[in-house]
Amino acid sequence: MRFGHFDDERREYVIDRPDTPLPWINYLGTEAYFGIISNTAGGYSFYRDARLRRLTRYRYNNAPMDLGGRYIYLRDEAEFWSPTWQPTQTELDDYECRHGLSYTRVASRYRGIKAETLYFVPLGETLEVWRLKVTNERDTAVSLSAFSSIEFCLWDAQDDATNYQRNFNTGQVEVVDGVIYHKTEYRERRDHFAYFACSEPLAGFDTSREAFLGPYRSWDRPLAVERGESGDSIAHGWQPHGSHHVKLTLEPGETREIGFVLGYWENPRDAKFDPPGSQTINKAGAQAKVATWLAQETVDAGLAALAARWEELLGGLRVQTPDADTDRMVNIWNAYQNMVTFNMSRSTSLYESGIGRGMGFRDSNQDLLGFVHMIPERARERILDIAATQLPTGGAYHQYQPLTKRGNNDIGSGFNDDPLWLILGVSAYIKESGDWSILDEPVPFDNAPGSEQSLYEHLKLSLRYTTERLGPHGLPLIGRADWNDCLNLNCFSDTPGEPFQTTENATGGVAESVFIAGQFVLAARSLAELAVHKDDDPAAYLTAAEKMTGSIAEHGWDGAWFRRAYDFHGNVIGSASNDEGQIFIEPQGMCIMGGVGLDDGTAVRALASVRERLATPHGIVLQQPAFSSYRIELGEISSYPPGYKENAGIFCHTNPWLMIAEAMVGNGDGAFDYYKRINPSAREEIGDLHRCEPYVYAQMIAGRDAPTHGEAKNSWLTGTAAWNYAAVTQWILGIRPELSGLRIAPVIPSSWSGFSAVRRFRGATYTITVQKEPGVSATSCSLVVDGVPVDGGVLPVAPAGSSVQVEAHLS
Ligand code: BGC
Ligand code: NOJ
Repeated sequence: MRFGHFDDERREYVIDRPDTPLPWINYLGTEAYFGIISNTAGGYSFYRDARLRRLTRYRYNNAPMDLGGRYIYLRDEAEFWSPTWQPTQTELDDYECRHGLSYTRVASRYRGIKAETLYFVPLGETLEVWRLKVTNERDTAVSLSAFSSIEFCLWDAQDDATNYQRNFNTGQVEVVDGVIYHKTEYRERRDHFAYFACSEPLAGFDTSREAFLGPYRSWDRPLAVERGESGDSIAHGWQPHGSHHVKLTLEPGETREIGFVLGYWENPRDAKFDPPGSQTINKAGAQAKVATWLAQETVDAGLAALAARWEELLGGLRVQTPDADTDRMVNIWNAYQNMVTFNMSRSTSLYESGIGRGMGFRDSNQDLLGFVHMIPERARERILDIAATQLPTGGAYHQYQPLTKRGNNDIGSGFNDDPLWLILGVSAYIKESGDWSILDEPVPFDNAPGSEQSLYEHLKLSLRYTTERLGPHGLPLIGRADWNDCLNLNCFSDTPGEPFQTTENATGGVAESVFIAGQFVLAARSLAELAVHKDDDPAAYLTAAEKMTGSIAEHGWDGAWFRRAYDFHGNVIGSASNDEGQIFIEPQGMCIMGGVGLDDGTAVRALASVRERLATPHGIVLQQPAFSSYRIELGEISSYPPGYKENAGIFCHTNPWLMIAEAMVGNGDGAFDYYKRINPSAREEIGDLHRCEPYVYAQMIAGRDAPTHGEAKNSWLTGTAAWNYAAVTQWILGIRPELSGLRIAPVIPSSWSGFSAVRRFRGATYTITVQKEPGVSATSCSLVVDGVPVDGGVLPVAPAGSSVQVEAHLS
């Protein structure tokens, strides 16, 4: 069952009923001011940091799920309703939400009144614009009231949700010329405030939530709206709120527009008050923004500028294949999701509350894969930020905070895969950009001034971190965990509520990870490639990779697949000899991506085992059999009921590794088959089962052991976005940046007769046409570049600004 459809032309997803199985959200903002917005206008906004600079309040895990947002109420002489359906849930005559690239439009019709609200954040601004367009389609004139409504958050979202003994006393506002200023704590240590303005003369306003809603009422029947009159309330403590009341009379056929601007403003410390010495906010800057963004021409221009920005970003790669799901994900939604994960990391979605997590060391390095071709300069900046948090041991903090850029151990430390991701991230960046200079950048350790060494030295140290921490089988020690945060082999937690990732670890020096072993081989080979350009000797890295490959063959191969790990006691995990958890997906993907088993048939054997034992129609599960009980020696992985999350859920992040592995062994049909199983657009038809948005990847789809097999959770902020993008564009379509240039090596389904693509690469534009006899699996590719045959599969790097025509023939 579908709840909407794709409008590929306009790059929008159109939702045609408000009661989607879950709120289906979109993101507003691309730089510093951000928000999430659901298909019924729920959500909230923040400036830079979703925890510390939260503008509006939102209550997660509410009933209904999505309550609190950017609401507008309309009222005629007879009744009132929400043109975005929530919160009154009045049955609308028609409804349509269009989630576009950084904007959302919700339109509806109710008893002849058409209302459409557009929400977006203009480029370069720290504010959001709402534009409400109301049309009277009745045959008589109508007197309408429009009420806006937002609830201010007292800035620190965590404190706001917990510290009521203080917070019910601090709220303060000012209202001047119809603009509502929220200035809680401005009188003391904050230099920032929020403002909420309306383009029309006001019939009234409210800034006290209780005055607006009325005692014991909720958002579905605010007292002010019900009686058609605001209270002109001024909040003192309790819950500061923002509501404007506008009255308008519309002739039949007449349309009126009302603009709203909600913004964030920061004043210099010495210019906070006007007049100086008073307690009144200096509003000059904010007033100028209000005047600018309430003007309709500015709004139109702002919207056009936003569209142009996306046109430019998405111009990095456009493809045309025989498959519509592939095209719209690659050309629009997957790329869009990659940019969202770049901005949000894992902080703000319907499942990430915006208060918990910073930028993950491992997550951010992997996210790079999805956006480096769109914004290489930002990828460079990101890499240097991440590397500056690396510890002098070569180890890593697991995360850093975006506002301070300092690493912390809040969600654990000592995840032994972390440092190796830096090598893979840097390698991806140089392959895309050709910018070798990044390796010479001086980068501190743990942000300590004076500790700077070149980024290249950081990478060498990352590799050494692993070789200095090997276990009894010559495999890397797992530390707190590896990519699988929930494989906690040194943890032994028996205390309810204790966080698995931060609780004290036992010091064993025994638990090893085959996943990190595979990752090490990949990273060591990547570093060897970089070494050649640094006049460093690659031999040592290649030898280390060989040695690790040997340890994997000896102790990491189980006969039909790669094992997963050895536990604290030296017992094997991920082996046919185990009762549960016999085969895991991660080492199959990572070892093969590292090149392990490609020359001796073990890779192909492991892939057959995956298909046999882990693949389901909804994607590949993480392991089998699921753990049926809690196992103290394994930790969080066995804490989930079977089929969910790391306990045999379809943890989508790992699926593209298998697509890549299939492509590496030349199995285009197999790779593409896995791709389609989790491609959200291809799952649109089963929206009532999948439940999450059909336009973005979710972290998890319930596995075959779960009663809800096929149900997705944790959409938007997941490494799945970047990895799927890499898998389909670089390995299936085979347009792959390498250090020497762009490789063209498609491994496409046998039924295809080819595809075409336009790829921007190091400033040049390559128009690529791939052709193949339909019905055959191709194993080789010959290239003709601007009419001249080229050997070796890699396109010569063309001068920036030039256009290159590429014809590829697969046979
Ligand atoms: C989740 C993991 C996540 C970890 C982050 C766990 O509860 O299952 O997916 O990586 O938390 O700390
Ligand atoms: C989500 C985390 O963000 C990621 O870092 C981790 O690798 C996966 N969960 C698997 O546990």
